[in-house]
Amino acid sequence: MMVVKILTQAIFAGLLAVTHGLPQILQRSSEANNSNCFPFGTSHRLNLDLQPPPMSRSDWWCSQDMFYGFLGFSYAFQYTNMDFDVSTISKDMIRMKQEFGATMIRMYIPESYTTELWENVIQAAIWNNMGVVLQVAFPISGNDLSLEAALESTLFNVLANSRYSAIAPYVIYAAEYLNEPVGDCDMCAAGSTGDPSEPASLANLTTGMANFRTEMHKHGIPAGISEDWDRPGLMSGPVGTDGLGVGLGVVGAALEPVLDFVHAHIMAYYHNVGVSEAWNYTAGQVLWYKKYLPQLPLVISEMMWATGYNVLHAGGDITGFAVAEVSVADYTLFWKTVDENCAFMKEHNVAWFIHAWREEGTLDMLQADGTVVIPNWKPQKWC
Ligand SMILES: *[C@@H]1O[C@H](CO)[C@@H](O)[C@H](O)[C@H]1NC(C)=O
Ligand SMILES: *[C@@H]1O[C@H](CO)[C@@H](O)[C@H](O)[C@H]1NC(C)=O
Ligand SMILES: *[C@@H]1O[C@H](CO)[C@@H](O)[C@H](O)[C@H]1NC(C)=O
Repeated sequence: MMVVKILTQAIFAGLLAVTHGLPQILQRSSEANNSNCFPFGTSHRLNLDLQPPPMSRSDWWCSQDMFYGFLGFSYAFQYTNMDFDVSTISKDMIRMKQEFGATMIRMYIPESYTTELWENVIQAAIWNNMGVVLQVAFPISGNDLSLEAALESTLFNVLANSRYSAIAPYVIYAAEYLNEPVGDCDMCAAGSTGDPSEPASLANLTTGMANFRTEMHKHGIPAGISEDWDRPGLMSGPVGTDGLGVGLGVVGAALEPVLDFVHAHIMAYYHNVGVSEAWNYTAGQVLWYKKYLPQLPLVISEMMWATGYNVLHAGGDITGFAVAEVSVADYTLFWKTVDENCAFMKEHNVAWFIHAWREEGTLDMLQADGTVVIPNWKPQKWC
């Protein structure tokens, strides 16, 4: 009974968006800025009939200097193939918009290997007039490259040859290749030592990145890697006196020429920084990216804190792996501090996502009982 009821509500939420256009209440976050562009301006709306807007892609999207402040949530499709129907995605998007003022979602580790997931996300984004950062990354736990190939080929198919082909570049803001492939050594050559800077492994990574980018460019979509560059000796150079890598490391330098943007993972949580020092670490990282990769647009696609011990992501002192203190109060303090530094984000032209909406245990904003961890809070988009 319960299942049926929830499904009905989900379908109703979806139908509401289709039959009546978008309710007024969904538009709130953009109203503080009268920008005439997507996804921040209210005048730019994706067509429910799937026709692309009558302008170029670059005229459609808001300019890069407007991409600062809160964008939305990482939205995982990691553990199940059952809850990615259009109405479920749309129902979550409606909450992200209404309750938090989100304008975009970032797909995270989409564990689905058919065209259906890509199409459903695009469809739900059209209903809700939201932008999408997508990601092709096979599950962290399993390095079966046939899965990565399926993710990419199904995406390429949807972009080139589906009813969404024409409108997709107006929905998809950017595409991330893999998810922390350096830290997880995802493209390490068979039989290698597990060092991503070893030549065959580095060639696999940079070739994979370049090939993916070539495909995305056919549709005008910029591509990059989703990674933490605070990996001295690999992504960043050797550690300097301030504790940060000086310049680019061997992997970072090899990747730089084939990237259109930096979607950075800035994760005080995993660098054993206490919550009261987390902003200092985060701001220091932003300045690092601006110093060494100044030509690339910067979005923080992953930042996180935990509400409690998280068996999936360590956290707390139980595993000794990520020893940050974790509680609802710490989680709330972390995110509100990020938001309070909107002027810094604006000055450095940095937009950010909250990691995550769901499926990531105690990193999630959405709790198991359907409530959110930080109620009545709209992070700033404009400041
Ligand atoms: C909207 O944001 C852009 C970029 O920050 C700014 O240049 C513009 O003045 C803002 N417009 C309004 C009406 O606040
Ligand atoms: C990396 O390249 C080697 C050949 O140099 C190949 O045998 C291996 O399968 C590749 N691995 C990946 C992860 O692409
Ligand atoms: C971080 O804190 C240190 C010590 O107070 C300070 O020197 C540094 O400027 C801070 N970094 C940032 C980016 O605010």
